[in-house]
Amino acid sequence: MSLNIRTVALKHGLILAPMAGVTDRAYRNICRRHGAELVVTEMVSAKALHFNDQSSFELASLKPYENNSFVQLFGHEPEILSEAVTKITQSREGLITPLGIDINMGCPMKKIVNNGEGSALLKNPPLIGQIVRRLRDTTDLPLTVKIRIGWDSSSLNAVEVARIAAENGADAITVHGRTREQMYCPEVNIDAIRDVKASVDIPVIANGGINTASDAMRMLEYTKCDGVMLARGTMGNPWLFEEITACIEGRQYVYPDIDVRLSEAMTQVEEMILDKGEHTGILEARRHLSYYIKNTKGASSARHRLNFANSKEELYSIVNEFIKG
Ligand SMILES: Cc1cc2nc3c(=O)[nH]c(=O)nc-3n(C[C@H](O)[C@H](O)[C@H](O)COP(=O)(O)O)c2cc1C
Repeated sequence: MSLNIRTVALKHGLILAPMAGVTDRAYRNICRRHGAELVVTEMVSAKALHFNDQSSFELASLKPYENNSFVQLFGHEPEILSEAVTKITQSREGLITPLGIDINMGCPMKKIVNNGEGSALLKNPPLIGQIVRRLRDTTDLPLTVKIRIGWDSSSLNAVEVARIAAENGADAITVHGRTREQMYCPEVNIDAIRDVKASVDIPVIANGGINTASDAMRMLEYTKCDGVMLARGTMGNPWLFEEITACIEGRQYVYPDIDVRLSEAMTQVEEMILDKGEHTGILEARRHLSYYIKNTKGASSARHRLNFANSKEELYSIVNEFIKG
């Protein structure tokens, strides 16, 4: 099985999902090192790029080694989105342009949908067509959309939306198998994902509830999708990509021991601190490290101590004591 998105070829179609506030550069790096074939940035506001907001440009900025990255944009105005694509694909010193562009059509957050963006777009399929067409005319880069299966259970329209996106020039579609109403919790509707795959000729990537290699295999086999996008299942577990790769290739996979895992986690923390500065880096590292120790002996007291750590040294000391314990 392989996944081809216009000019991008992935051997197994294993993609790291965009997660705002989670999949920063350091997170994407550790996933890339452990088998993510493609990674997507946190969502970036097209409107904020229009107003030249520097932090949004930073979210969309890619260093030279990040050459398997798509940038995800959100917005609802075709012109503003087109301008954003033009801005982020212009060359900037020391940075590379994205490998492709993904458009967010699934975010359920109130402040986004109240603006007609994210999953609110599912209520307006003709606008989805206009957006994709406008962006197709703007760029030759691979262009993908990430949708949900509908707004709510009475409006499951992923097939209609996927067809419109494909007709207007999208190169692939990711389907998160939940409605906006369901947010992030219930079981995913894999039949709805399978229906999308059966109804369009462009590649379809399945997303939602993939937390183990067997989840991924079941998803791929049942939906016949061309790839899978992993989100929360990778939190504290970037090795999930390696495990799925091994499973697809028919190999055994043995997870590294906790000391190796935590030493990798600290590499991620070091990168976060380099990128965001000590203060923000440490605050955010607390949550990431908690995921790395989840479900292991002594996790709850270590997590409690992590919540109060204020320096890199403290983080190292908690992690080292945890390993010894
Ligand atoms: C904290 C968090 C942030 C997210 N941010 C984004 C985002 O920026 N763009 C997007 O398309 N989806 C976002 N998502 C949705 C995920 O990409 C994914 O579709 C969803 O979590 C379902 O996959 P999962 O069940 O494997 O976690 C986010 C999810 C979470 C939990």
